[in-house]
Amino acid sequence: MKLRSLEIIILEKSKGGIFMYVNTKDILEKASKEYYAVPAFNINNMEFFHAILEGAIEKRAPLIIETSEGAIKYAGNGDIHKGAKYFVELVRLFADSVDIPIALHLDHGKHFEYIIAAIKAGYSSVMIDASEEPFEENMKKTKEIVKIAHAAGVSVEAELGQLAGIEDNVSAAENVLVDPEQAKIFVEETGVDFLAPAIGTSHGAFKFKGEAKLDFERLQKVKKLTGIPLVLHGASSVLPEYVKLAEEYGADLGGAKGVPEEELKKCVQFGINKVNTDTDLRIAFIAGMRKFLKENPKEFDPRHYLGAGKKLVKEVVMNRLEFLGCAGKA
Ligand code: G3H
Ligand code: 13P
Ligand code: ZN
Repeated sequence: MKLRSLEIIILEKSKGGIFMYVNTKDILEKASKEYYAVPAFNINNMEFFHAILEGAIEKRAPLIIETSEGAIKYAGNGDIHKGAKYFVELVRLFADSVDIPIALHLDHGKHFEYIIAAIKAGYSSVMIDASEEPFEENMKKTKEIVKIAHAAGVSVEAELGQLAGIEDNVSAAENVLVDPEQAKIFVEETGVDFLAPAIGTSHGAFKFKGEAKLDFERLQKVKKLTGIPLVLHGASSVLPEYVKLAEEYGADLGGAKGVPEEELKKCVQFGINKVNTDTDLRIAFIAGMRKFLKENPKEFDPRHYLGAGKKLVKEVVMNRLEFLGCAGKA
């Protein structure tokens, strides 16, 4: 029997309307036009993926799955090409039999070899994160990746400013937040498809000492001057009910604080279309798993204790899809 190329199979399936593995750009440009946001959920393994997928199907929402460089290395057991391929195969396998659009994105690509591995494996989009470099260098690196990625039909995200959060001393943080005028030049020069402007968030579970403080004015300016889909990193809400549950069963998350849902809604109103979410899923998972293990000391079937974590991840996912406005948009 003659073997057909994978590209031909994908093309035939997409013509038949059943293959829903899409370019991230398509999902985000629609979101930008219609003023809603799509959460991009980080995964490291199968359980989180299943939870997110189930949630998105139930909410009839477009889906963006993303993996960090660390996730790729982990999934490939040290081999980054195998790791990238693992995630593409996993996501495509399920995209084949659902009717919501699904994209797979490389989050925080800092090393050329990971970005190339993701493009070669078939990711829908990649992030080139040269945000710690001086502006000119960031622009140069981003331009280079845009050229390679676009030639392969892969869209590109870049970042401007740094995710340091805004502490009490606002002026000290000013220099790490995005400069809207620079953002305009950056987007025009690089041809990047979506941009992550630093407006005061930070990664992880401990984002703010006091109240959450985001620079909405700056965000609005960036949207006005660039006109492209914008991305919010460090966007987890660190929901108190899941933190409390995790702590009830032994976790130590004292001082955890995220971006409240109301603040995220404002971000969407002012131009954010992709809301990166990792920490919220991690906390929900650990809360579910800790509770299960404590209550079921005789259990050792991984499907049961991982399943308990999965259940809470799905809850968090469904809530996010709803309040960010993308439920029903698939
Ligand atoms: O932005 C970073 C993501 O939360 C992934 O973090 O490098 O621990 O996978 P990671
Ligand atoms: P959180 O740590 O707030 O979930 O942010 C995740 C993120 O920005 C991934 O790129
Ligand atoms: Zn991030």
